[in-house]
Amino acid sequence: MAAVEILPGIYSVGVTDWNVRNFHGHTYTTQRGTSYNSYLIVDEKIALVDTVSGKFAPELIENIGKIIPPDKIDYIIANHVEPDHSGAMPAVMPLCPRAKVLGTAKCREGLYRHYYRDWDFQEVKTGDELRLGKRALTFIQAPMIHWPDSMFTYCPQEELLMPNDAFGQHFASSLLFDDQVDPCILMEEAKKYYANILWPLGAVILKKIREVQELKIPIKMIAPSHGVIWRKDPSKIINAYISWAKGETENKVVVAYETMWGSTAKMAQMILEGVVSEGVEVKLYDIAQSDRTDVITQMLSARGFLFGSSTHDNDMLPNIAAFLELVKGFKPAGRQAGFFGSCGWAGGAVKEMREMLKYSGINEAVPGVSCQYVPDEAALEECFNFGVKFAQELKK
Ligand code: FEO
Repeated sequence: MAAVEILPGIYSVGVTDWNVRNFHGHTYTTQRGTSYNSYLIVDEKIALVDTVSGKFAPELIENIGKIIPPDKIDYIIANHVEPDHSGAMPAVMPLCPRAKVLGTAKCREGLYRHYYRDWDFQEVKTGDELRLGKRALTFIQAPMIHWPDSMFTYCPQEELLMPNDAFGQHFASSLLFDDQVDPCILMEEAKKYYANILWPLGAVILKKIREVQELKIPIKMIAPSHGVIWRKDPSKIINAYISWAKGETENKVVVAYETMWGSTAKMAQMILEGVVSEGVEVKLYDIAQSDRTDVITQMLSARGFLFGSSTHDNDMLPNIAAFLELVKGFKPAGRQAGFFGSCGWAGGAVKEMREMLKYSGINEAVPGVSCQYVPDEAALEECFNFGVKFAQELKK
């Protein structure tokens, strides 16, 4: 994507990664690709806010070069160390001999531990101001949203917030703004991003949003480091973040299971029937066949989770084990859960799933249900009743 002027003298110079399908070491599937956004602010002084992933450095440099010669850059604002935003710095820095890098103290440390270069670095903290000419930039530290170094950059004259990862989406689009793309897809991708990256950080996010609201800074535009820019109504994504961070949920159940010979799948189906009979919405996933990123997105707004697995070597099956490892890390406090599964001569999966999530904040709402080999009529009735009871608990 070529450079685009998003406000007078402010250019989007980042790149679109149309073909990336896995992110964060295969913890996140990016079916719609992504973008690495970088913003060039041309004033009496010139600042570049964030760079891009390393392999796209030539495209970033070309985009900058269409606006100004890169050696005119005075400042590079490093909102976040993670390589999808700083990876191009080793290629960009030699082209900007007078550029000073600005970031938090943790950013200085993190950049050094990534690239081992002694760039001219100025530490900034919340409230610091950098005058560029007609415009200024101010900084808001945002530790753990989502790394210790994270920071937001704000331009008061344009009422423009550049919060790096926050409010982003892994959504490649030739259209740059929220009012130009399908609003349902946009919110789906924003929710997916929050669920899979920010879910465990709800308390920190709420506190930071309140802090920014107390600063009473007007925000006309939010330009994140991934996906499209929010200009139509930035409060829409801010309010969505508040709701997700508070853990607001719907009366909805996600059933996620793995089955060896189909018995646990039969149990899952009957449990679903039981939940549905109580008027509660259900989403059901065979986790070995499903996109984990999508399942987690559904779980963000679900009040109840039901996890099932056949027993194998006195334990759960490997795909559900890997999935629950992810769920454990999200610390989904306040959610109701239940466990089920079929076994042969000895059980173990139900106990092991419960153990894995013991300290995750999930509450086991009803005792688990197991069945030996293939469920008969009585076992299927027990599963149905398990679903009914779980849904009733959820509605309390
Ligand atoms: Fe988009 Fe935390 O990097």
